Parts: sequence; structure tokens; C-alpha cells
Amino acid sequence: MILAIETSCDDTCAAVLDSSGRQALSNVVHTQTEHSRYGGVVPEVASRAHLERMDGVVEAALAEAGATLDDVGSVAVTVRPGLIGALLVGVSTAKGIAYARRLPLVPVNHLEGHVAAAYLADPGLEPPFVALIASGGHTALYSVGEDGMRLLGETLDDAAGEALDKGARMLGLGFPGGPALSKAAEGGDPDRYDFPVGLKGKADLDFSFSGLKTSLLYKLKAMDADEVSRELVHLAAGYEAAVVEALVRKLLRAAELHDAPALVVVGGVAANGPLRRRLEAEAARLGKGLVVPPPALCTDNAAMIGAAAAATPALPFPDYLSLNARSV
Ligand code: KG4
Ligand code: ZN
Repeated sequence: MILAIETSCDDTCAAVLDSSGRQALSNVVHTQTEHSRYGGVVPEVASRAHLERMDGVVEAALAEAGATLDDVGSVAVTVRPGLIGALLVGVSTAKGIAYARRLPLVPVNHLEGHVAAAYLADPGLEPPFVALIASGGHTALYSVGEDGMRLLGETLDDAAGEALDKGARMLGLGFPGGPALSKAAEGGDPDRYDFPVGLKGKADLDFSFSGLKTSLLYKLKAMDADEVSRELVHLAAGYEAAVVEALVRKLLRAAELHDAPALVVVGGVAANGPLRRRLEAEAARLGKGLVVPPPALCTDNAAMIGAAAAATPALPFPDYLSLNARSV
């Protein structure tokens, strides 16, 4: 079995997978609540909370899988990118377990992990496909082939989730903003206000959400509080639709350019209802496969890291002793 560990941000995660890496036997996520009163993730608080929770989360992942360390054949861990202190807790834990048990260790890139969540959602999936990662920290498009992932485009400013979170904050909605904004937008008219779709006319595959944010800011400045509360549903719907349109437009362009038979969408924003519905309609129209994993596999988790490990070269015992975490 593969024991996988993920601590790149504010979730302390461990999972156990079968040796193929396509079936998760457990997937334990401890989401840190310590950050809520600061309105964002505090790196030092995250490191400390990982340290306090890590051993318990690993034990829980083994127990839920009905396994012990004797069943583990390799240890996979996120080594980059992420908060350096947070990553180090996972990397040190993985090194300690692997060294003590004389096991190989697989260093995994967090973004490759996000994409590999698609293999857990659809064990029959094989490259080639195009993949969109849309989360609070990342928005990037990849072409995935037998030989790995190639970056096609990424955001020039905010991530899609970050844009949703900031828009929601401007509208006085809760955090995380994505789900709050989506709820507030229900029944709204997305066309009542004109919101810009970032880099819409550009042929490249990059994203930009700063113009959208500014557009909302100016609309709100021109309204009084009563008008904002009356128009909230339409403002939220228009803002959300502009984010969805930018993501779908570039993903489809990438699929066309690379003649990809399937589309994969992962990251926290993949939980978005309007985005899922648009993707389903477009994939059906184009006759392309579509994999959007369930939310538990889309947000940060260790099962996706184990899934990516299956396609990543392992470092044999004890070659990983000098392995380090990297923030980028
Ligand atoms: O992948 P993720 O859990 O965390 C990291 O970025 O590490 O993504 C979180 C992002 C947040 O920005 C959140 O607002 C967004 O995903 N999100 C959503 C929804 N659920 C979460 N955005 C739109 N609609 C949702 N239902
Ligand atoms: Zn992530």
C-alpha cells in the first residue's frame, strides 16, 4: 500500500491507497480552524497545527484503511509548492516513517497531485487530456500526456477561487466566498450587469481576474446600501458567471488546440454548480470525456498525492535523507 501525506497549506492530510494508486482506502483531512479569526492562513500557525495533528491523522488514515505500517510499501509526500514551514512537517514525517521502515519515498508536486485526483474519480482515465486546476491558490491549465504535465497557461494575477473570495467579501458575504457567492447568486440574472471576462479575446491560455474585481468595486461604489442589497443576487450571479466563463472558455480553447479527447477540472472551485453544469453541457456538445472529481477529492487531500505518486519516480531508502521542501 501507499501511505500519502499532504501538509502544503492549512489541511493536515494522510491517506492510504492500494499499490496501483487508483483506489483510496482512506482519506483523512483535518482542516485547521485556527486561522478563521485572522481572515486568512497564518503560516506559522499552520506549521504548529500540522505538528500537533500530523501523527494522529496518519494513525487515523491507517486505522480507517484497516492497515498498519507493516502493510505500507512506500511513502508519498507533497514537497512543493506551498508554505515552507507547513510542507516541512509533512516532509519530515514522511522521511521519518520511510527511514524507520526502510521504505522508498516518493516526492510529489502538489499541482500534479490535484490533477491525479481525476484518476481516483475515474480509474479508467488515461492521458491524453487537458486539465484545469482552479483553487484558492492556483489557476492553471495543463496538457497531460504519457510523459507528464505541460503548463499551457495560468493566472496573471488572482486565482479563480481568490477572485470569488474577494468578490464575496466586497459583497459582504461569508468566507470561503466561493460557496457563499454561489448561494447568493441563485435565481439572479447574470446578464443584468456587464462584468468583464478576463483575457476573453486573447488567443493565449492565460487567465486574469483583476479587471473583474475592479469592475465590481466601481459598481458598488456607485450604489447605496439599499440598492446593493436589492441588487445583490444579480451582482453575485454576474460576477460568478464571469469567472465561470473565463475558465470554460480557456479550457475549451486548450482542448481544441491540443485535440484532447477529455477534460479534467480539479481544485476547490470545481465544486461550483454553474461551472459543473456548463462543463457537462460543453463536453456533451463536443463529444469529449469529462472528469470533475467530487469536492472531497478536489480540495486539498492526501489521496490525490498518493495517486500522483503512482506515476512519480520513488527515491530508494535511504537516498531521501537530504530531501527538502520547496515553497515554489
Ligand atoms: O482547493 P481549495 O480547497 O484550497 C486551496 O486553494 O488550497 O480551494 C478553495 C477555493 C476557495 O477560493 C473557495 O471559495 C472555492 O475554492 N470554492 C468554491 C466552491 N467551493 C469552494 N468556489 C465556487 N463554488 C463553490 N461551490
Ligand atoms: Zn491545493
